[in-house]
Amino acid sequence: MIFEHFSAGGCQSYLVGCSDTCAAAIIDPEISLIDRYLAAASRTGVRIHYLVDTHTHADHFSATHKLSQQLGVPVAMHRVTPAPFVELRLDDGEMLAVGKLRLQVLYTPGHTRDSMCLRVEDRLFTGDTLLIGATGRTDLPSGDPEALYDSLFSRVLRLDPGLLVHPAHEYKNRSHSTLAQELASNPRLQVKDRAAFVAMMRNLNLSMPTHLTEALRTNMSGGKTVAQLLEEASASVPFMALAELRSRTEGGGGNLTILDVRERDAYEQGHIPGARLLPRGQLELRVNEELPDPTARIVACCEFGRISTFATATLRTMGYQRAVALDGGMKAWREAGYPLKDGATP
Ligand SMILES: [Fe+2]
Repeated sequence: MIFEHFSAGGCQSYLVGCSDTCAAAIIDPEISLIDRYLAAASRTGVRIHYLVDTHTHADHFSATHKLSQQLGVPVAMHRVTPAPFVELRLDDGEMLAVGKLRLQVLYTPGHTRDSMCLRVEDRLFTGDTLLIGATGRTDLPSGDPEALYDSLFSRVLRLDPGLLVHPAHEYKNRSHSTLAQELASNPRLQVKDRAAFVAMMRNLNLSMPTHLTEALRTNMSGGKTVAQLLEEASASVPFMALAELRSRTEGGGGNLTILDVRERDAYEQGHIPGARLLPRGQLELRVNEELPDPTARIVACCEFGRISTFATATLRTMGYQRAVALDGGMKAWREAGYPLKDGATP
């Protein structure tokens, strides 16, 4: 079996492949690692056939939808998942064939209603049902401590104790454990009484994950994250450095149009000398009167360099092919001690 393990801020993901046929699947891919998965697939000489999420993640951004669009291969999840882009809906006792490998589905609700574990030869991908020295939490949407108790004590822990445990989360850089080790030392699994286990899970008082709302929105719908939108906009525009713009404005700006896309009050408190105001929210509707020359060289700026990137991408879409974004924003411009002008005029 070809096996690769990836880690991103505590999120664990895995590539499993068949060495005979070079077919592979990725389990729980995370959005920031897309290039690494594709590089690993090339390096190990496999083709990815399936993208699998063990459950609807509430704390990070799944890459299954984007990768499936990029690679033209299906996303597989448990059949009760709310995600509409899942093409292969799996149920307990079923298998995915990845070349000669078999990914066996064990339905293990509790952490979420759509949680499943995947057994592949001597490895068990436990998602957030069982972690090393812990279990997944049950206080997020669709979590259920009673169901987790059943999934663990009636299903997972009855499997071969020699199975290697590969969880979806691990924060102490341990690569794996075994079911035997978890049975012996996982503190939550020592609470074998059902009512005591449920009470323990109900009283963990964990803080909410940082990106809960955005993760649920994107993972359940296949929609894009803000970071993805920004990455796409960034990939479609060139940038100009702060120092470059400064040296060009010193000479009077030449043929450069500096477009400040912040709101009026921010502009009036201090803008780049010569910069014109056109707030991002009015860009499309006022662009014809404000920027009649589509061949003009335009540098868009904003407070942090993000909104100006979106604005530049919009301008380019509208035909302003010499529009560029300032690499950085007015905050960095001020901190660099570069010249400012206040008031309503450029
Ligand atoms: Fe999770």
